Amino acid sequence: MKALLKVLSGQKANRVPVWLMRQAGRYLPEYRELRAQKGGFLEMAFDPQSACEVTMQPIRRFEMDGAIIFSDILTIPYALGQKLEFLKGEGPKLDPIEGEKDLAVLSFEKLHERLEPVYEALRLTRAQLSKEKFDQTTLIGFAGAPWTVATYMIEGGGSKDYMKTKALAYGNPEFFSQLIDVLVQATSEYLIKQIDAGAEVVKIFDSWAGVLDEEEFYRWAIEPIVKIIANVKQEHSDVPIIGFPRGAGLKYLSYMMETQVDACAIDSMVPLEWAAQELQPIKPLQGNLDPAILLAGGQVLQEKTKRILTLLGDQPFIFNLGHGINKETPIDHVEALIKTIREHNSV
Ligand code: CP3
Repeated sequence: MKALLKVLSGQKANRVPVWLMRQAGRYLPEYRELRAQKGGFLEMAFDPQSACEVTMQPIRRFEMDGAIIFSDILTIPYALGQKLEFLKGEGPKLDPIEGEKDLAVLSFEKLHERLEPVYEALRLTRAQLSKEKFDQTTLIGFAGAPWTVATYMIEGGGSKDYMKTKALAYGNPEFFSQLIDVLVQATSEYLIKQIDAGAEVVKIFDSWAGVLDEEEFYRWAIEPIVKIIANVKQEHSDVPIIGFPRGAGLKYLSYMMETQVDACAIDSMVPLEWAAQELQPIKPLQGNLDPAILLAGGQVLQEKTKRILTLLGDQPFIFNLGHGINKETPIDHVEALIKTIREHNSV
């Protein structure tokens, strides 16, 4: 069994598998070259050949244990009919949803037609991985969690404090739960079709889960995930699901207990000894090197990597960052990281 799948089944593999969030991206010259040719991020993400090629790039360089399909969490609002652009240097821009009347913009009618390039990219990548003999690499599909996707839909892009979204969730929960229900349904179907197209694992990114208080966390970060997992498992009971409620702090415990994720990704702020004692006995963990340490490189990268491996490597564990790789990261730092993990594996 592939090392990543073995760990996700709750067993220790003969080595600690590794992949990195945003491993396909701007720190790679071959990515920047293709992006310049294609003209932009969305053009690339919605072109199955390009998406497959970009997904393969870090695998060819580093033989990662996981190949995450090149796409974005904002494919869902786009496919539901919300206007989406990526402005250079500014990140995503959407026409914001501000109240009940704007929900009418969203429709399931063209959902899967618009998402078809993602499914095709998964089919191509699965075939390409075996063609290039990456028999140990597992293909990972993904989606954003409803809460995080809703923040982009409501704010119309990124935000520092999520004030509009939080005010709506607290102030008009009837409206907000309608939006979340749409996202639960669309995300469930999306993940099921990604698995149909060849994804062997799926991951749910809740990047902004950390801004919710205890009760809102339960309502908007746990309950929707419980529903999505039930829907996906009904069709594909054997495909593991990784959850990532970034910034959840102590609430990682309730997230892992309540959602029934098969594994949980932890951010860099999570204390390692606590994670090993309290979280890892529940389910396998993935994480959590600070991307800034990978950017720094050298001695601190060695030491922090070894500390993670020592504290989390005795129980089922997947090495990853605590958030996406920074675009300024030198490639030789990534090489050094992979080497340290491989050396740990061989002792
Ligand atoms: O991990 C991978 O290699 C797979 C691809 C992937 C992307 N986005 C590609 C991407 C994944 C898994 C994502 C998830 C994603 N997208 C999240 C959740 C994870 C996280 O980082 O918290 C979020 C919040 C988004 C939304 C998003 N997409 C933002 C805020 C931005 C702009 C910020 C930035 O880095 O430029 C994007 C754009 C984006 N998504 C890029 C990539 C490679 C950069 C596009 C480019 O300019 O080339």
